[in-house]
Amino acid sequence: MRFSVFIALFILCLSQAFSQKSETFKNAAVVCAHPAAALAGKLVLENGGNACDAAVAVHFALAVVYPNAGNIGGGGFFVYRDYKGNTDALDFRETAPKKAHVQMFLNEKGEVMENISLDTHLASGVPGSVDGMVEIHKKYGTLPFQNLLLPAIYYAYKGFAITARQAAELNELAEELRIKNPNNAYLRNPNGWKQGDLLVQTDLGKTIERIANAGAAGFYEGETATLIVAEMKRTNGIIEKEDLKAYKPIWRPTISGSYKNYKIISMPPPSSGGVALIQLLKIVEPFDLKNSGLLSPASINIMCEAEKLVYADRSFHLGDPGFVNVPAQILINEGYLKLRRNLIIPGKAIPSEKIQHGNIQMPESEETTHYSIVDQYGNAVSVTTTINDSYGSKIFVTGAGFLLNNEMDDFSIKPGHANLFGLTGSHANAIAPGKRMLSSMTPTIVEKNGDLFLILGSPGGSTIITSVFQNIVNIIDHGLNAIESNQTLRFHHQWLPDKIFIEENAFAPQVQKELQKMGYGIEVRKPIGRVEIIQKMSDGSYMCAPDGRGDDAANGF
Ligand code: DON
Repeated sequence: MRFSVFIALFILCLSQAFSQKSETFKNAAVVCAHPAAALAGKLVLENGGNACDAAVAVHFALAVVYPNAGNIGGGGFFVYRDYKGNTDALDFRETAPKKAHVQMFLNEKGEVMENISLDTHLASGVPGSVDGMVEIHKKYGTLPFQNLLLPAIYYAYKGFAITARQAAELNELAEELRIKNPNNAYLRNPNGWKQGDLLVQTDLGKTIERIANAGAAGFYEGETATLIVAEMKRTNGIIEKEDLKAYKPIWRPTISGSYKNYKIISMPPPSSGGVALIQLLKIVEPFDLKNSGLLSPASINIMCEAEKLVYADRSFHLGDPGFVNVPAQILINEGYLKLRRNLIIPGKAIPSEKIQHGNIQMPESEETTHYSIVDQYGNAVSVTTTINDSYGSKIFVTGAGFLLNNEMDDFSIKPGHANLFGLTGSHANAIAPGKRMLSSMTPTIVEKNGDLFLILGSPGGSTIITSVFQNIVNIIDHGLNAIESNQTLRFHHQWLPDKIFIEENAFAPQVQKELQKMGYGIEVRKPIGRVEIIQKMSDGSYMCAPDGRGDDAANGF
């Protein structure tokens, strides 16, 4: 399609109302965190693009319209299933720069220096998103790369209307963003933002145009690379041109396992997501969760006990397989999981301090975002991407128009030290130059009888895995559809700290009492996850369930 035709179609589409929250589409669908990005994806799908073309368009559009987590300054994971059932995964996770070292966040006494791994230029890993999108397009794309970036460029130059939620967030963050870099695009409105204001990001538009013209070199080399390194040099940053030039995403086989009649296809390490999700499902498989009931004490008990065992394994065994031996296949092996399952005592909460990671004999040798896409050919894409915290490190690259990630905090910066999400780690996830920090991102595709059934994933740090787990159980075991499942309130246990985190009113008073009797501590917290689900229905249509916890939206045709 010619460039001018594409942009004309796009502008035409902009005059249409943004799609409703939940909908069912006959042919193709996108579910993501912002209606403007969902529209960009729909346009690509409607014009013959496949799910991978749409993923590229949605990714760059989110980088403009959803700066909380949409990004070019971060990284992520892509899980793919084509219409024939072949699967593939791309790891475009950030890497530690070559000057990174194991003690970089510790003082002379070996103590962790608070917030350096979150709030400073040292917090950033080398971004992977741009090369990730270029690679996905190279392998699977069909429309010209340049055209796919047009919606993002359009939103950046012309501006887009911010939502009420975005206005409130930008007002709340204004001071922090100003202190970290007064030259940022989010401070243009001295009177504060309100819903419907246009956010224009000219420098970001120029950066995305450079990427449209030169591909990965438009980011990792030339002007953008110069601007990133100049930003690093303003303070203590260590990312250098060489780091940017050396960045490469990695194609990996997906990790898969069965759950009842379903096949779970997800992301292998350096995500812990796929391993942990399959472990959770296999551990609970023999228990009759359906008869125990949705959000009943008995089913919450079994799910939380499984979560404790799995997060203990995560903490010890998982890291970047390029650097440490990760026993991923052993961890999801039925024999191993049987031993773990046997540790569960139904009706009882085993204190977390009594739970350890499993022993494996090794052979020698808040913020993220998810988008789910299906095209008219039946190809499915599940991508989770992040700059870690909401608005990343909140450090803006002067002149280049985007925020840097604070993904270095996902490393275990000292054994036993809890990260932003309260997760602890060990040697397997220690910092090393070029290494990828362990992630919980769990982009997943589920098959039923060999056919596509679900595409789902979520942000939420440590709660990502349990949010995906709970939705799969809601749909497969409790028979809810995607929309009902996503509306169900969520709970989460991550072994340490030893308590169940719940959304407000997730547990009925009587349920709460019974769980406390079993020995659980319970703490109410802010909403858990923002899950984006597409469910293939028996008539072949696609039910879309964007999470109502945010401004998330579906679009399609
Ligand atoms: O990769 C990870 O596990 C984290 N950096 C994800 C962060 C996240 O989900 C924040 N969102 N609320």
